[in-house]
Amino acid sequence: MARFLIDGGYPLEGEVRVHGAKNAVLPILAATVLNGGRNVIHDCPDLKDVQSSIAILEFLGCNVHREGSTLFVDSSRAINEEIPEQLMREMRSSVIFLGAIISRFGKAVTSTPGGCELGPRPIDLHLKAFRQLGIEIAESHGYITCTADNLHAASIHLDFPSVGATENIMLAASRAKGTTVITNAAKEPEIVDLQNYLNGTGAKIIGAGTSEIQIEGVGEFHDVEHTVIPDRIVATTYLACSAITGGMVQLTNVESSHIEAVLSIMRECGSKFYINGSTLIHIPPKKILPIDCIRTQPYPGFPTDAQSPLMAVLTLARGTSIFVENIFESRFKHVVELARMGADITVDGRMAVIRGVERLSGAKVNAMDLRGGAALVVAGLAAEGRTEVDDVGHVDRGYERLENHLTKLGAKIKREQ
Ligand code: EPZ
Repeated sequence: MARFLIDGGYPLEGEVRVHGAKNAVLPILAATVLNGGRNVIHDCPDLKDVQSSIAILEFLGCNVHREGSTLFVDSSRAINEEIPEQLMREMRSSVIFLGAIISRFGKAVTSTPGGCELGPRPIDLHLKAFRQLGIEIAESHGYITCTADNLHAASIHLDFPSVGATENIMLAASRAKGTTVITNAAKEPEIVDLQNYLNGTGAKIIGAGTSEIQIEGVGEFHDVEHTVIPDRIVATTYLACSAITGGMVQLTNVESSHIEAVLSIMRECGSKFYINGSTLIHIPPKKILPIDCIRTQPYPGFPTDAQSPLMAVLTLARGTSIFVENIFESRFKHVVELARMGADITVDGRMAVIRGVERLSGAKVNAMDLRGGAALVVAGLAAEGRTEVDDVGHVDRGYERLENHLTKLGAKIKREQ
C-alpha cells in the first residue's frame, strides 16, 4: 500500500473546504437501489469506500458515472440481489445494502461480513430487526440469504442505538406495508441526511435525529437530486491538525452544530472558534491543556471516530488526559504506533491514559484502521523530523486526497506508492 512521508514542525495556516460525509453517502448510495430511477448526488466524496459502494451498485446492474463531485446513479436496470463476497469483505459497512436490496427485490444474498479492524462488529441488531419486519434469514456456509415474501411494518426497539441498524431498518421498511416505528434509534446527522434523501424519492419518514423514527411504507418512488452533508469527522481531523501544529485554520462547508461535542472538548484544550454560517475559524491553543476524561458516546455525545485524532493532539498536552472508548471493542490500535513516536499512553481495556510529553519524534508507523491512520498523520505533522505512515490505503477510505489539502495548508507531506 502507499505511504505518507511527513516532515513535522510546520504550523498549518489557511483555508480548506470539508468534503461531503462518507458516513452519509454510503447509506445514500445503498438507498439509490430503492427508487429504480435516476439519482443525482452532489458533493459525493471520491473515497475508497465510495468506490467500493459503486462497485456493488454496478454489480447489481445500476449505471453509475461521476462528473466532478456529482455522482449519477440510475438503478432502473438493477436486477441482481447478491452482494459479492469480495466486495462485502472489502467494506463491512456494505451490510447497509441488504435493507435496500430486500426492499426492492424481496430477496438479498451476501456473505457474512467479516469482523473489521475495530473488532467483531456483528450485525445481530440488523438481523433481529429484519426478522421483526417479516424477513426470513438463512445463514449457512458463511452466506446470509434474506427473503421477504411478506415484508410488513413493525415496532422495533434497538438494544443499542446502532447507526447501521437504524439505517438498514429505514431502507427495508420504506416499502413495507404500514408504519414502522424504531425506538432507541441512532440520532447521528447522517441518519437525518438519509431520511431527507429517501423522502426526496417519495418515502415517508419522520423523526430522524431523534430516538424515535417512523417509516410509512410507500409503493412508488421517483428520481431525486440531493447534496450530501459535510463530513463532521474530516472537519474534526483538520481541527486536530491545526491544534497540534499551532496554526490558525479556516474551514468552509462545515456544519458546526454537528461537532458541538468536539468543539466543547477542544475549547477545554485551549482552542478558540469563530463560527459564521458554514465557516469555522480555529485559533489553536498556545499550550494544549489536558482533558480529565473523554467518553465516546452515541450522537450527540463525543464521537468515537474523533477519539484517535484528538488523542494525537493530547499526546502533547501539559498534563494527563483519559479516553474511555465505549462504542467499539478494539479502537486503540493507533496507541502502539503513537508510542513509537514518543507518546506516553497506557491502555487498560476501554480506557487509555495519555501523559503529555514535550515532543514527538518522527518514526516509521503503520495505519491500522481509518481514523487511527488519520491520527498518525496528525501526530506526524507536529513530530520532529520525518514520519513515514505506511498502509495509508486505510486513510484513503475516508479522506479525499488528504495529502493535497494538508500541503495547501503548509504541511510538508507527500504520498509514495
Ligand atoms: C457507523 O458504523 C460508522 N460507519 C462508523 O464510522 C462509526 O464509528 C459508527 O457508526 C458509530 O458512530 C458508517 O456509517 C459507514 P454501529 P456502524 O452499528 O453502523 C455494535 C468511520 O471511521 N453493533 O453504531 O457499524 C458494533 O460492534 C466508521 O467512519 C452490534 O453489536 O456502527 C459497535 O461496537 C468507523 N451489533 C457498536 O455497536 C450490530 O448489529 C456501534 O456500531 C450493530 C452494531
